[in-house]
Amino acid sequence: MMDPGVSSAGRFLDACAGRPVDRPPVWMMRQAGRYLPEYRAVREKVTFLELCRSVDLAAEVSLQPFRRFSPDGVIFFSDILVPIEAMGARVEFGDGGPDLPEPVRTSADVARLSRFDPSERVRFTGEILGRLAREVGDRAAVLGFCGAPWTLASYLVEGGGSRSFSVIKEMMAREPETLRRLLDLLADVAADVLSYQIASGARAVQLFDTWAGELSTQDYREWALPAASRAVAGIRRNGAPVILYINGSAHLIELMAATGVDVLSVDWRLSLSEARRRVPGAALQGNLDPASLGGAPDDVRRRTRAMIRETGGAGHIANLGHGILPSARLDCVEAFFETARQPLSRGAVAKEMVV
Ligand code: CP3
Repeated sequence: MMDPGVSSAGRFLDACAGRPVDRPPVWMMRQAGRYLPEYRAVREKVTFLELCRSVDLAAEVSLQPFRRFSPDGVIFFSDILVPIEAMGARVEFGDGGPDLPEPVRTSADVARLSRFDPSERVRFTGEILGRLAREVGDRAAVLGFCGAPWTLASYLVEGGGSRSFSVIKEMMAREPETLRRLLDLLADVAADVLSYQIASGARAVQLFDTWAGELSTQDYREWALPAASRAVAGIRRNGAPVILYINGSAHLIELMAATGVDVLSVDWRLSLSEARRRVPGAALQGNLDPASLGGAPDDVRRRTRAMIRETGGAGHIANLGHGILPSARLDCVEAFFETARQPLSRGAVAKEMVV
C-alpha cells in the first residue's frame, strides 16, 4: 500500500525490488556536471582528476543536484576511468574526453595492469561515499558505480573514446586470449570496486556498460556478457541492488537480464513497455532522451508523463536514457523532476510488478 511517510532511500530500494511505490524514484545519470553553474564554478579552480580525488570537492559537487532538485538517488562524483588509473594505466582528461596514451593491445600490456585493493588505491572514493551517506541519510539512496568490463576494455584498448571500436573488435579475432584475460581482470576489479563502495555506504550500485550496445547480439553473448556476469557474481552486495546500463541495448535486453542484475537501465530508443514485455521480471530504469532537456519545459512534462505511463510507475526508476548533456536547461530539468514526483493515480498505486 502507499505509505506517505516512505523515505526516498526506501522508495529507491522498493522500486529496484519491484515492490509497490507511491511514485517511481527519480534521478539523472551524470546529474553532477557542467549544465550546473555551481559545478562549473568548482571546476574552474581544479582539474577533473583533482576534483575526483578531493573528498571535500567531490562530495560537494555530488550534493549540488541534490540541493537543487531533491533526486531520490545521489550518485557519488567520480569517473569510470578512476579504477583504470588505479590498475596502472595512464589516463588523461582533455577537452576531447579521456585519453589513454599507452593503449593495451598485447598480453605484455595486460600483464602490466593489476587488480588492487580499493581501500588502499582509491580510498578517497570510499571516503566520498561515507561522507554522502552521513549527509543524506535516508533522504536519498547514495549510489555507487563502476564501468563494466567491456566498456572499460574499450577505453584501454582503443586508447580513449571511439566511433567504430575497430581496434577492440579486431582483437576479438586476432588476440582472443589476451582480450579474454583483460575482460576477466576488469570483471574482478569492477567487483572489488563495487563491493568497496557498498561497504563504504552505497545503497545501490550501477554498472555502466555504455558501449556494449555496439556489439551484435552474438558478440555480446560471447564477450561482454560473461565478463559482466563475472563482475555481478563477484560483488559482495550486502543487500544492495545492482543496476546495469547499456546505451543502444534494444537488441540485448534479454541478455542484460542474464547478467544477474536487478535493474535494467535502457535508453530512449526502446520503449519501456516493450522492455517490460520482453523481460517481465526485471525492474527498469530510464529512459527520457537527454537531448529533450535542451528543449522546452512543457515538452519535457509531456514526455516524462508518457514515460511513466509505459510502466505504470511499477518496478521503474525514472531517469534519462543516457547522461545529461552540458546543454541541458535548468527549467527543463526542474520540469522533469517535478513531473516524475507526481504521485501515481490511485488505480496505479500499489500495483505489484508482475514477476
Ligand atoms: O553521474 C554523475 O553525476 C557522477 C559522475 C560521473 C561522471 N562520469 C563524471 C564526469 C559518472 C557516473 C561518469 C560515468 C562515465 N564516464 C561513463 C559512463 C556513462 C556515460 O555517460 O556513458 C563514461 C563512458 C565516462 C568516460 C568519460 N568521462 C567521458 C567520455 C568523458 C568526456 C565526455 C564528457 O562528458 O565530457 C568524461 C568526463 C566527465 N566525467 C565529466 C564529468 C562531469 C566532464 C568533465 C569536466 O568537468 O570537464
